[in-house]
Amino acid sequence: MGDAPTARSVEVAAPDDFAQTAADVLIREVLAAHEARGELGLCLAGGSTPRAVYERLVTTAESCVVGFPWHAVHVWFGDERWVGPTDPASNYRMACEALIDPAGIDDANVHRMRVGDAEPEVVAAWYDDALPAQLDVLILGIGEDGHTASIFPDSKTLGERERRVVTARSPVPPHGRLTITPAVIEDACRVVVLATGASKAGAVAAAIEGDIAVERCPARLARHGIWVLDTDAAAGLDPL
Ligand code: 6PG
Repeated sequence: MGDAPTARSVEVAAPDDFAQTAADVLIREVLAAHEARGELGLCLAGGSTPRAVYERLVTTAESCVVGFPWHAVHVWFGDERWVGPTDPASNYRMACEALIDPAGIDDANVHRMRVGDAEPEVVAAWYDDALPAQLDVLILGIGEDGHTASIFPDSKTLGERERRVVTARSPVPPHGRLTITPAVIEDACRVVVLATGASKAGAVAAAIEGDIAVERCPARLARHGIWVLDTDAAAGLDPL
């Protein structure tokens, strides 16, 4: 990662406080990126965990941070399901509902993975060309199997060292995916990983503390990031 802290950072909150804790971390990191760079690239995670965090990020920024620089935020996506932008499974749709529309982010600054506009490999190449050389704030989730973005255990994506965006296949539907590759995670300036629930505790512990290979736990690619967990997802970690 860029100039982000190299040592791991773990913030743990009670389940009811998780969204606010995560929102506070993201506000801190976005403001730091804006201070450092002016216009910044914020790359969103999909799935279900981030929704409440994005919603709280918008309301907290609005009520607590005078002049939060949404105008300077370019929104990117770490992965997308191969479904249309209005499909309930679309990460873009979730981001629009929870963050982009409520924050009033200009369409010109929202960079959707243009599912459906061409063949998947072409869309992936378009996104690879457009993606900034270094993302300022990269938000990731983690699956129970240790995947992150749509980089799944033992997938060929883990060996991809040329391209930064590729097609992928998820073991769970929607199977068709587009995803950033390991280099994008490694090169990101700040990485924030969000996880809640007891079902994630094993994957979180493996990613942060285990000596398991990245091939078996792709979320280890983010082990030096800022991990924001609820107490259930943190239950497998060694007490500090
Ligand atoms: C996706 C995500 C994926 C997600 C994890 C956790 O498109 O599904 O990018 O990597 O972050 O699967 O998903 P939940 O937050 O729904 O548990």
